[in-house]
Amino acid sequence: MSAPLRHFLGLKDFDEKSIREILTLAARYKAERGSISWRPLAGQTWALIFNKSSTRTRVSFEVGIRELGGNALFLNGNDMQLGRGEPIKDTARVLGRMVHGAIIRTFAQSDVEDFAQYSKIPTVNALTDDEHPCQILADILTIEEKLGPIAGKKIAFIGDCACNVARSWVYAAETLKFNLTLAAPEGYQSTITNSFVTLTSDVKEAAKDADVLYTDVWVSMGLEAEKSKRLAEFQGYQINHELAALAKKHAIVLHCLPAYRDQEISEKILEENAQHIFDQAENRLHAQKGILHWLAELPVE
Ligand code: CP
Ligand code: NVA
Repeated sequence: MSAPLRHFLGLKDFDEKSIREILTLAARYKAERGSISWRPLAGQTWALIFNKSSTRTRVSFEVGIRELGGNALFLNGNDMQLGRGEPIKDTARVLGRMVHGAIIRTFAQSDVEDFAQYSKIPTVNALTDDEHPCQILADILTIEEKLGPIAGKKIAFIGDCACNVARSWVYAAETLKFNLTLAAPEGYQSTITNSFVTLTSDVKEAAKDADVLYTDVWVSMGLEAEKSKRLAEFQGYQINHELAALAKKHAIVLHCLPAYRDQEISEKILEENAQHIFDQAENRLHAQKGILHWLAELPVE
């Protein structure tokens, strides 16, 4: 019996062994960029289907696919028949006969899951309303490079704790056994939790003795109509000097980017942590090469 097809659809139920395999591959790809001879995607074409904007995810996947020997085919979902109502399960069955893997950025988590099921090709979640798992693997790679093993560390996520990035952090905390404190105003707290997670509305409690202060935009893609309400309700949830002073001495500030200065993060704190934040952005490339390699190792049914 052949092994089941591998997908990377989220960190929910994604096991520690696989995360560690991906991070080890990522570190190797990073250390040996330009000299490594592995070409796990040789002769393959991978489609990127994006229904939302992207800079980092798109560029890092396109470059990563090419560096792994494959071809990247970027498809704007709105230009496809998907945008005119063709069902995802039909799109999936067509692409599954033409390309070797798919990377999807969209709204509903069920769309990437349905695509994986119907296409029968390796499928990657490049951000949905529920999760942003590729981001969190790059974040963990960054944290471990700078601070050592993440197990036991305190990560403070400040801001919109109901967003996709925060949700993927919640799942990762349980799998990798680190402490995650989520600080959000009322109405924006995570609806999922586990024994490694503390939910609070108190930003100071979250920042106190943290190893990492982390934030994301207050207005995620698709929620633009709520912008003015959100900007008002998130006041007081900014990562700034006052908050950073409560964290551990060696603490670092990370942001998945794009950043909105003087909303979720102050200009000064961002620039002081620019080395960390742009290392984090660069690590998207290395982490995603790890993910692609991990997927391509699969014996396909
Ligand atoms: N952090 C992130 O996913 O960035 P992009 O939206 O630019 O891809
Ligand atoms: N939560 C943000 C992440 C952007 C990378 C969004 O979904 O827009």
